[in-house]
Amino acid sequence: MLAFILAAALACSPAPETNSTPQLSGNNIPEIVSAMTLEEKVRLIIGTSTTIEDVAGDVGNAGGRKVPGAAGATAAIERLGIPSVVLADGPAGLRISPRRKDSDKTYYCTGFPVGTLMASCWNPEIVGQVGAAMGNEVLEYGVDVLLAPGINIHRNPLCGRNFEYYSEDPLIAGETAAAFINGVQSQGVGTSVKHFALNNQELNRLACNSVASEDVMKEIYLRNFEIAVKKSQPWTLMTSYNYINGVHAAENTHLITDVLRSQWGFEGAVMTDWGGGYHGDRIVAAGNDMIQPGSRRFARDIVDAVREGSLSMAEVDACVERILRLVVKTPSFKAYKYSDAPDLEAHAKVSREAAQEGIVLLKRGALPVGIRSKVALFGVASYDFIAGGTGSGDVNKAYVVDLKQGLENCGFTLDGKVDAYYKNYMERERKRCAMVDRPRDGNWYIDKERPLEVVCEDLIASAAGNADIAIITIGRISGESKDRSVQFNYMLSREELRLIRTVSEAFHKQGKKLTVLLDVCGVVDVTSWEKYADDIVLCWLPGQEGGNAVANVLSGKVNPSGRLPMTFPRNYADDPTSDNFPEIFTDKPFNYSNYRNTRDGIVRNEIPCVDYTEYSEGLFVGYRYYTSKNVDVQYPFGYGLSYTTFSWGKMKLRKVEGGWEASVSVRNTGDVPGKDVVEIYLQAPEGTVDRPVRELKAFAKTGLLDSGKSETLRMFIPEYLCEYAISDGKLKSGWEFVPMKNALEN
Ligand code: BGC
Repeated sequence: MLAFILAAALACSPAPETNSTPQLSGNNIPEIVSAMTLEEKVRLIIGTSTTIEDVAGDVGNAGGRKVPGAAGATAAIERLGIPSVVLADGPAGLRISPRRKDSDKTYYCTGFPVGTLMASCWNPEIVGQVGAAMGNEVLEYGVDVLLAPGINIHRNPLCGRNFEYYSEDPLIAGETAAAFINGVQSQGVGTSVKHFALNNQELNRLACNSVASEDVMKEIYLRNFEIAVKKSQPWTLMTSYNYINGVHAAENTHLITDVLRSQWGFEGAVMTDWGGGYHGDRIVAAGNDMIQPGSRRFARDIVDAVREGSLSMAEVDACVERILRLVVKTPSFKAYKYSDAPDLEAHAKVSREAAQEGIVLLKRGALPVGIRSKVALFGVASYDFIAGGTGSGDVNKAYVVDLKQGLENCGFTLDGKVDAYYKNYMERERKRCAMVDRPRDGNWYIDKERPLEVVCEDLIASAAGNADIAIITIGRISGESKDRSVQFNYMLSREELRLIRTVSEAFHKQGKKLTVLLDVCGVVDVTSWEKYADDIVLCWLPGQEGGNAVANVLSGKVNPSGRLPMTFPRNYADDPTSDNFPEIFTDKPFNYSNYRNTRDGIVRNEIPCVDYTEYSEGLFVGYRYYTSKNVDVQYPFGYGLSYTTFSWGKMKLRKVEGGWEASVSVRNTGDVPGKDVVEIYLQAPEGTVDRPVRELKAFAKTGLLDSGKSETLRMFIPEYLCEYAISDGKLKSGWEFVPMKNALEN
């Protein structure tokens, strides 16, 4: 159908195949482009998809056919030897269908920890290992480009996709992304760093206009992309759904052509998010090369604009050339014989090690717990562990190790009565959830029903007598297309609070301790219940090996070394963006009428936080706000405890080409091996009001240091991150670099 429409629109017949028809070879891209008809060029620009049948029917092998469950593909143009390239999600592991028609073989992928946990590692090396393992699955399952990482800034704790993203700080986000991208691409497959840019809320994500100043964009919301691009040259980049200062992200010449390509030197191809952008011709003119998955309307826009002369063939060719430069790098072009059998066992180990590295110890009283201890395990999430989020950030993994299994695998004994109670209760709850979910099965836009929390006072009292320690897991999930609500997701429910309080009182009465585990998709309230818990462990959504990873940390086999990549405020209302985020709408149950999502290319200016969101907090996002305005927080950015102690030598600073080298020697002064993180902040002179008082400029983590051992960490601080504080190549008077343990403490 598409071919027909385009051919009719152009009044031309398909190009004849002759003996001299060139075949794509890797170094003849200009020749191929000049041999292509406009119809073929448009077919390449518009992606294919199994979800848009009339397009998929005509334009080649949709990713869905070669790799079922892949998000999309580019069109094959056989006449010119151009193969189809397969694109698949996503940030926590490859997302493809685990089963195929007419076959018993399974195609599971490893569920790695979510992005926020990766950022909590503060360890680019381990992030790179995860990237490499994930990239290997991409390669071995016949996919060419992984639609990851997602690196948007955590502007507000409630963004439903924060779990896919890294941090409230652009340096952590950019460095984590670069390590991840380099890891994936080391396998000969591509990445798509997303969503460019200012896509910091899910509500009305297709049509909301993000309004921010150039400075704020440059220093916060683009800096993460800049670092990633400069340090890792992702093969592709995905533009976001939203408008930016009135121009759609996919139609934004300024950001795509001037900033991304000219200023930062991005060499790859740019694609829209799925269904993103509105005017096909403007998308092409902006330098957004691929429209995914595309539709006839986009194709018609491009063809009409070329015919009318408002879009030049040179602009179309530039996009086509960049797509072909991507194609020739791919395994599909190189006819790589993929095995459909990556080493899932080896990758599970990588997943577990990464999860262990990013777990953050927030409060320490009793931990670690000897494995001979008898554990009373409470909380429905202990038995129905949340390994990852929903939507395109989900992974079809073969299994999830929950906390019960993890503790048992580690050698702990569970209190039998509590275990039996939950076995029974969870069976009933699972049935109830399945009933609720049945009518809406397969719709990822609607939250799946979760087991309800339960408090059985008699059980708790008897467990306090029998067991040595209590553990409660609190679980939270979120996903694409919906932000979290304060009332139902950020705050703990009445039952959860009652469970924590009741268990705490019963165990404390017996001189025993309570550990609370947060298996959560984002920041949750801790302030209201912190005093009841002796230990608080944050494992985010730690992937399929989560239960094993957490058990290893609880037992002390692994000494926690994760650090927060964002602030935990004392109250949601303290957040600098809380007045400017659509929280009010998300307290209502999911309802499409809460969403305008109008795809008509018109920027609306009526409802704040729905039609447009003003980034009026400026640079004062996350810790930049809390530290500058002296607002008390629950846990600061960069915070995390250890089972050992460290002492630091005095920082040495030396000017080097393009920046400074800071070095700090770290010594393990405690009894057990551990890792420490040094964070270097650029601190403003006293009395500065127009800029944050402190901003992270470099960080490094030690290797595993035995008790008494030291390591000197060397960190490069690039000048371009400190422009505002430099004159004549030196720091202006009063500005200084300070090594700190977190954004509040040195
Ligand atoms: C998401 C992207 C994802 C794409 C393909 C979109 O809905 O926003 O992050 O890569 O779908 O699945």
